[in-house]
Amino acid sequence: MVDSIEPQTEAWWRDAVIYQVYPRSWADSDGDGIGDLPGITSHLDHLVDLGVDAVWLSPFYTSPQNDAGYDVADYRDVDPLFGTLADFDALVDRAHELGLRVIVDLVPNHSSSEHPWFRAALAAEPGSPERARYIFRDGRGENGELPPNNWQSNFGGPAWTRTTNPDGSPGQWYLHLFDETQPDFDWTNPEVQEEFRRILRFWLDRGVDGFRIDVAHGLHKAEGLPDAPEDYDLAVDPTGLQPMWDKPAVHEVYRDWRRIVEEYRVEGEDADRILVAEAWVIPDEALAKYVRPDELHQSFNFGYLMTPWTPHAQRDAITRALAATAAVGAPQTWVLSNHDVPRHATRLAYDIDRATRVRGIGPDDPQPDPVLGLRRARAATAVMLALPGSAYLYQGEELGLPEHTTLPPEARQDPTFVRTGGEDVGRDGCRVPVPWHADKPAFGFSPTGRSWLPQPEVYGDLAPNRQDGVAGSTLELYRTLLATRRHYRLGRGELTWHDLGEDVLAFTVACPGHRRVQVITNFGAEPVELPHGQILVASDALDEHHRLGTDTTVWVVPG
Ligand code: GLC
Ligand code: MG
Repeated sequence: MVDSIEPQTEAWWRDAVIYQVYPRSWADSDGDGIGDLPGITSHLDHLVDLGVDAVWLSPFYTSPQNDAGYDVADYRDVDPLFGTLADFDALVDRAHELGLRVIVDLVPNHSSSEHPWFRAALAAEPGSPERARYIFRDGRGENGELPPNNWQSNFGGPAWTRTTNPDGSPGQWYLHLFDETQPDFDWTNPEVQEEFRRILRFWLDRGVDGFRIDVAHGLHKAEGLPDAPEDYDLAVDPTGLQPMWDKPAVHEVYRDWRRIVEEYRVEGEDADRILVAEAWVIPDEALAKYVRPDELHQSFNFGYLMTPWTPHAQRDAITRALAATAAVGAPQTWVLSNHDVPRHATRLAYDIDRATRVRGIGPDDPQPDPVLGLRRARAATAVMLALPGSAYLYQGEELGLPEHTTLPPEARQDPTFVRTGGEDVGRDGCRVPVPWHADKPAFGFSPTGRSWLPQPEVYGDLAPNRQDGVAGSTLELYRTLLATRRHYRLGRGELTWHDLGEDVLAFTVACPGHRRVQVITNFGAEPVELPHGQILVASDALDEHHRLGTDTTVWVVPG
């Protein structure tokens, strides 16, 4: 523990709402059908009107784009697809002018196979310093023809690929927890550690306000790379039982990085640069270790994201999550959608069991009921934005965008689709370019009408120009929720549960010095009577008797 790191009880990030932009799908300025940095800069006012505190940008670095930029070939430059470093600086300047902070993605678990280090590693001998930056091993079997262990890639298929020697003979194998074009770094190598310190400083010096750390639970692997257990149950067994995830040594990396971002603290200014982990780790207590006072600031709560839409499951997930982070003095970090999982306006349309699903949805799957999905999504968001802590929104959820569930196979780009032989259709359905204007080409996404994934027709009706100022629209609901959350400082509040019956989720959030707000969600078929008081916002209209309908959340100031 570093004594000098005091818990920053007032710091901006403890209740910040942060909006994720997936650069290739937000706004295309040059008409090539792929979103870019100038496109983002020109649409930042949308985020100001929405009322968020910060924007997180998924990777825009130099990359062959085999995993949509999560395969980085140069950590210090912008891919020409997205613009230039000057475009990046302009984006940050404009965001700061508008009072928005900027968080960038950092991908430390693996590089692209096009990274100069990996090219050098392939060209070098086994046992060389070049190979020692990655995880090269001899194969098993008589002639090394079998992979070094039984690990599977997250995208399907083996996690090892065999190299070919300069003379054409088969060589060593290298590890890739994701696509074969994403070789894993060896984080026990001081050279790798030092390189990432430099990368952090490079972007900190350019003025970024923080980093989202990709695959934060994967950097260190179990010593000796033992086989993974065959009988491991992903849904319930602690993540750390697997040899590639959640190893104690990752925490050393984050203590080191925390010291670096602390160097950028300005005395007397609310200007912390933050670190947020993407760590798919259970149980909650293991995840909370990432946000101990001398480690990261935040860690996405994916357990919450996957929680079924029932009052019991929701209450249980929220209670456990709040307790786990409170025990280490950190706020909780809520999220319902991102670029890796089906959008919650679609996910929640499935039966309770299937609401836990995070795999892609394709034309051969049962199709969702869009009305039910959106209604539940609005109710779920109204719960999330009332919870103490920080929250992340994914681009387009403020429009109520559904997942694209009928993308044809030939449009699919996610490597998961190919690597699983189509068994998992992958994540393209949540990455479809967003609409801006119902009556413009590509619904305003690009001036030419090009779009790297086809947009579903319904995106037109959901474009901001159709929702702006329209009472009851999802966009206006999000604006109201965010403004009200800010007004009552709900993100800084304390949560108390109430029992209003089997089918109802009910809690109060109170922040000292502010009126307390009661949050009530009806999961049942019967309408629910509301307590006396002032209704601040409802996720859908109340009935004619002023009662709360099914799958609706209301915020009330009791009185
Ligand atoms: C993270 C990213 C995901 C990417 C993977 C490999 O899970 O969110 O999009 O494919 O890491 O970098
Ligand atoms: Mg473009």
